[in-house]
Amino acid sequence: MNRRDFLKYSTLLGAAAGLPWLAFAKGNAALPKLIIPPLLDTAKQTKIQLTVQQGKSQFGKNLITTWGYNGALLGPVIRLYRNKPVQITVHNRLNEATTVHWHGMEISGIADGGPQASIEAGQTRQINLTSIQQAATCWYHPHPHMHSGKQVAMGLAGMLLLEDANSTSLPLPKNWGIDDIPLIIQDKKFDENGQIDYQLNVLSAAVGWFGDTLLCNGQMYPQHYAPRGWLRVRLLNGCNARSLNLACSDHRPMYVIASDGGFLPEPVAVQNLYMLPAERFEVLIDTSNGQAFDLLTLPVKQMGMNLAPFDQPYPIIQMATVSTRNNATLPEQLNNKLPAIPSVDILTNRQFKLSMDSQLDTLGMQALQQFSGDSSMHHKMPTNHGHMAVMHHNMQANMADLDLMHANRINGQTFDIHKPAFKANKGQYECWEISGVGDMMLHPFHIHGTQFRILSENGKIPPAHRAGWKDIVSVEGAVSKVLVKFNHPAPSSFPYMAHCHILEHEDTGMMLSFTV
Ligand code: C2O
Ligand code: CU
Ligand code: CU
Repeated sequence: MNRRDFLKYSTLLGAAAGLPWLAFAKGNAALPKLIIPPLLDTAKQTKIQLTVQQGKSQFGKNLITTWGYNGALLGPVIRLYRNKPVQITVHNRLNEATTVHWHGMEISGIADGGPQASIEAGQTRQINLTSIQQAATCWYHPHPHMHSGKQVAMGLAGMLLLEDANSTSLPLPKNWGIDDIPLIIQDKKFDENGQIDYQLNVLSAAVGWFGDTLLCNGQMYPQHYAPRGWLRVRLLNGCNARSLNLACSDHRPMYVIASDGGFLPEPVAVQNLYMLPAERFEVLIDTSNGQAFDLLTLPVKQMGMNLAPFDQPYPIIQMATVSTRNNATLPEQLNNKLPAIPSVDILTNRQFKLSMDSQLDTLGMQALQQFSGDSSMHHKMPTNHGHMAVMHHNMQANMADLDLMHANRINGQTFDIHKPAFKANKGQYECWEISGVGDMMLHPFHIHGTQFRILSENGKIPPAHRAGWKDIVSVEGAVSKVLVKFNHPAPSSFPYMAHCHILEHEDTGMMLSFTV
């Protein structure tokens, strides 16, 4: 079975299209209150300590091992101000090496935190960070060589708020944790003992690691009480591999005000918001009618991600209101004109072809077929008895010569930590063409050190809310073109990365490094 056949097969299994949206929201007081991660505001402190550590988190009745920054799970929200230098000291208290990458920040390769910036177990590293870019919601997460997927799955991720004069003066909701809230959305898979069940195997190397439970700021289906008026939600899809399709249960629109790299010129109203792994969007939602509603994710077509319970709308968080009103508005303009796109014919053009080892493709699809057969039969995730065991047995022979950790590639090459692929010219626009032709898989492609513009995404002109500043572009069986520029240096000792942000594709080789 190849991927084309698999798609037909998975449509037969049901899922996706045509399901009625369920109105979950009833204003349920028994739901847990949304946890807002602690805010480290560099207006007050310019020296920040981040300790990477193991801890325990409660999920249902299980107290399980999780990893976090300065806590057991996830990390503090760090707020940076344009042109204000800060010093971050990272202490690694794990039993393995990690790095901290500042995803979305336009900073030099030395500060970027790619795989070369390894912090060994027990060690400390100091990072000087200055945001010189416009306001944006970014994030930080580990980027160690071949282990990013596992470390993010264990719980390491945090949000970064970059502020500037525009973001502080626009009349947007600004009461942190009240009408300006962060939502870090991630799926998790737990084993029989309730522990996080991370595995890098043929299934996850092929389609990415995915779970059956979606968490919001580390909680299952929490509730947030907002004032009546406008609610600003800073959304991060922090999943290893899963794309989301967010909507409000009562169909109220969301007004997108910012994408990965900052404000759009003006708000864009959407009914549903598709979010690739690692993408951020900021939306405003009108809560003035006082009615509770759920933020849902609707079924997506991505391979493996439409299995139960994600074959139905899945409630992520319930929004309810208190009786007080805020006086924020939805501005008509966000004071962020996008520069005109230069003519791309005269620019340096680079081509990137994403591919997967054909053996991994075959084995991965077999594993997914087996897995989804099981889960559709039991309407839950399978345990590893019965046919899973048979499948493992059958795969032994074929797997003998599959080198899993090098099975994903860009331009035929698997990631080589010692060899930057090319040098980009500082301060010059380039047109990058990323191709997934011949491959049915979704690849959310990410580039370090820049905020780019999408010229075309899978052959199509991007919709308005994807036409602003971005650091992730969808590549799915077609060619996507982006306009990039690097304003900072990245030497060969600390090059930038460009990679698929399905973390298991990244960890198994779909990444390259380059210097500026
Ligand atoms: Cu969010 Cu190179 O990563
Ligand atoms: Cu990044
Ligand atoms: Cu990929």
